[in-house]
This record gives sequence, structure tokens and C-alpha cells, in this order.
Amino acid sequence: MPELRAARPLMRRATLAAGLLLALAPASGIAADSLDNRIGEALFRRMWVAAPTATQAADGLGPLYNARSCATCHPRGAGGRPPNPAVEGDQGVGYAIKLSDDPVYGRQIQSNAILGQVIEGRPRVTYREEEVRFPDGETVRLRHPTPVVADLGYGPLAEATVMSARVPPRVHGMGLLDRIPAEAIEAEAARQAAAGGAVAGRVNHVVVDGRSQVGRFGWKAMHPTLDHQDAEAFSLDIGMSTPAFRDPWGDCTPAQTACREAPHGDSKQFEGLEIPSTVIGLIDGYLRDLPPDGSLTASADKAGAALFADTGCAACHRPSWRTAEDPEHPALSNRDIFPHSDLLLHDLGPALGDDLPMGQARGADWRTTPLWGLNRLAARDGQLSLLHDGRARSVAEAILWHGGEAEEARRRFMGMQGAERKRLVRYVLGL
Ligand code: HEC
Ligand code: HEC
Repeated sequence: MPELRAARPLMRRATLAAGLLLALAPASGIAADSLDNRIGEALFRRMWVAAPTATQAADGLGPLYNARSCATCHPRGAGGRPPNPAVEGDQGVGYAIKLSDDPVYGRQIQSNAILGQVIEGRPRVTYREEEVRFPDGETVRLRHPTPVVADLGYGPLAEATVMSARVPPRVHGMGLLDRIPAEAIEAEAARQAAAGGAVAGRVNHVVVDGRSQVGRFGWKAMHPTLDHQDAEAFSLDIGMSTPAFRDPWGDCTPAQTACREAPHGDSKQFEGLEIPSTVIGLIDGYLRDLPPDGSLTASADKAGAALFADTGCAACHRPSWRTAEDPEHPALSNRDIFPHSDLLLHDLGPALGDDLPMGQARGADWRTTPLWGLNRLAARDGQLSLLHDGRARSVAEAILWHGGEAEEARRRFMGMQGAERKRLVRYVLGL
């Protein structure tokens, strides 16, 4: 039983915490039911607390942070949503405002703080609505968002600082996306470039651990591994240090002296960190085993698939991939998966652009979002939070925001008759 063996180092390092977690670990119907996975799930849901505490095992939150647990922003692995401007004080779910490295506020607005510290501000959004009319008379309303930060706690943002609002994506199926060979992603980019058309996705090559790697996670594909994505979440969202981001004050800048000088949770027994590598490893393991929230087989809707391809959607939302050979996980190796994404960056035009480059992703570049899992949300089409900032409430609305390299696909969708349009949307909501 390799799972049990792998769990032991954690038990040794943090007997108390692990014992507690095991007792709390809910029986999960989703994740593979191993001991490691249950600890990983409990850690994903764990509410971290401010330092200092007697056990040191769960402390180090903040001092400034957005949420106390991963699950607060990714409830049951699902995506988040922006604040509802019609509801006073509503914060949405996991809605965060990234910054272009402001000299005072850093890389993200932290909307929470431990006792005695001042919050950076409250991320909000306002919308201007625009009506788009199809040739057959049906209309769709688009929401043009303007992100705002209310109650800035440390003075105005620098003049040059750029804001970009993000909602948490759905995090099911990450383990399978992780198993697509990097060379296959490079080959897809080369194939699109060689085709010479308007659709020409690019790999976001990011330097992590001193070497250039293929980015694949996050809205701009700026994280090459789950480990790196999760470590950044601990730093920016929760304010805790990990092997990859060693500052115990997370995103606090030197200008934020009170935050830097507050007690932190790093301790010798945890590699001088707040979150040791074992804990990151267990959370990764849990996420890696979360199956995609949708179908693991090719869509049975063949006519829908053909329409999706003919409209030009499949050019970026590549239906299938084959996972790498992995003798240790035969069930996950060499298998066809259907995420409907090429994992490449595409310029979708200025209306979606945010002027906040990440790695090689420019302001209007976004990673093609995997569409699998939308079937779980189908009944709520019209009240969804699609696209990077959650502005689109329906699949039709999301498609109408596509521009740039996707302009032609959008134009074809605009030109469809009602029945055909509904066919396409139904196909997407079945993925
Ligand atoms: C404050 C809310 C918040 C918290 C807390 C949070 N996340 Fe996220 N998460 C986000 C947002 C927003 C994004 C999208 C960031 C981006 O790409 O700009 C994201 C992205 C991700 C992704 C990438 C998914 C993809 O499609 O590529 C993973 C994986 C993830 N988070 C895991 C975690 C883990 C693990 C934790 C806990 C350590 C965590 N998150 C805590 C908000 C949050
Ligand atoms: C040129 C590449 C490209 C083409 C062509 C394209 N898309 Fe996309 N799609 C993207 C990218 C990139 C995003 C992410 C944009 C963002 O979040 O701002 C996206 C996002 C989406 C989303 C939102 C998913 C979510 O969970 O937020 C849907 C739905 C979608 N596309 C459907 C379609 C359909 C249907 C078509 C064909 C009419 C299509 N796309 C054509 C690249 C493309």
C-alpha cells in the first residue's frame, strides 16, 4: 500500500496535525479514496489560523490574505463568481484583483487581515450592459465590467498599476491536464503556426526552478506545475510560505511594515516554512486525482461535435489529448481525455484584454479554457460566471466576447439561425 507509506513522513513531522486532520477528513465520493487523498482533501479545506499557536501545525495565516482555505475559493473544486453589485457588501466567491506589482500593494489586493492588521481593500465590480441582437431578432445582454477596489487601506494605487480581476477556475481534471506531455503541447503550437491561419496559439514558456517550462495552469497558463500553482495560492491568497515562495508575509511589500513585522508561522520543524513540502505534496495529490467534473469519454453528440468543429471552436478548444505513458499509474497513462482545450495562449482581442502580461502572455492573451465539466452547470446557463473575470452569465455571452484570433468563430456564431445556435450551445453545455 504505497499511499500509507507516503503518508508517514507527515505523521512524523506533524503528528498532532495529521491525527486531527484524519479525524476530520470527510469521506469523499470524488477523490480516489486513499489515505493520502483524504488528508489532501482535508488540507484543501483546512481553515488556517494566525500565528502563533501552540501546535504550530496550522498557523501562519496572512498577515494579509484573501481567504483562509483553498476550499473557500474553490468550493468542492467548482469555480468562483464575481461580486453581485446589486447586493450590498457581496464579495463573490474567490474573486481576486491581480496587480502589475504595485510598489505598496504588491501583486494582488488582499481583502482580509488578521487581528490588528489593516486590509488592503475590497474588490468589487460595476457593469455596463450592452444588448447584442442576432439576425433572427433574439438578443443577448453583455456585461462590460469595470473592476474597482473599495476602501483602499494604504493610500491610492500607483498611477502605472494595472488591475486584472479573476475568478477561480474549476479545478477538476487538473491531474489529467498535468499528464499531457509538454512536447505534445509544443507540437500543437507548431502545427497551428504552420497552418498559417488566424488561429496561432503560443506556449507560455515560464522560468520556474531556474529552467524554462511549458506553462499550463491558470488563466494565462503561467504555472507549469500544480505544485507551483498551489504554492502561489498559499502565498498570494492565504499569506503562507512554501518551498517555492519562502516569504512568510506572502504578498506584503517592504512598504507594509506592520505586516512584515507581525508574528509569522514559520518554524524549524517545518523546513523553516509555514507550509512544508509534504503538505503541498498532499494537496497536489488530492487535486491531481480529482476527476474532470464532466465526461471522460468522447461526446456522444456527433452532430454537435461536427458543428463545434465547423464553427471554428475546435481550432482552440481542441477536443482530445492522449496522456503520457506512466507505468506507476496505468489507469491514467496512455488514455484519451476530452478537455476541449489546446492549453495554448491566444489573443482574444482588446475587449477581453487586461494589459497585465504574465510570463510570455501579453495583455490580451488567455489560455483556451478547458470546457469539460460544463455539463454539471448546464441547468444554470444564464446565471453562470464564465471567462477569466466571470463576466459572462451564459455560454452565448461567453462566445460573443471572443475576438482577436477567435473573431471568425464569433462571426459564424453571430450568423447562425436560432436552432443552430442552440445546437452549438447545447453541445458545449454537454461537455
Ligand atoms: C482567494 C481565493 C483563492 C484561494 C484561497 C485559492 N485560490 Fe486557487 N485560484 C483562485 C483564482 C482567482 C485562480 C485563477 C488565477 C489566475 O489564473 O489568474 C485560481 C487558480 C487555481 C488553480 C489553476 C486551475 C486551472 O484551471 O489552471 C489551481 C489548481 C488552484 N487555484 C488551486 C488552489 C489551491 C490548492 C489553493 C489552496 C492552497 C487555492 N487554489 C486557493 C482563487 C483562489
Ligand atoms: C482563438 C481561440 C479560440 C476560439 C476559436 C474559440 N475559443 Fe472559446 N475560449 C478561448 C479562450 C482563450 C478562452 C478564455 C478567455 C477568457 O477567459 O477571457 C475561451 C473561453 C471560452 C468559454 C468560457 C469557458 C469558461 O469556463 O469560462 C466558452 C464557453 C468558450 N470559450 C466556447 C467557445 C465556442 C463555443 C467557440 C466557437 C464558437 C469558441 N469558444 C472559440 C479561445 C478560443
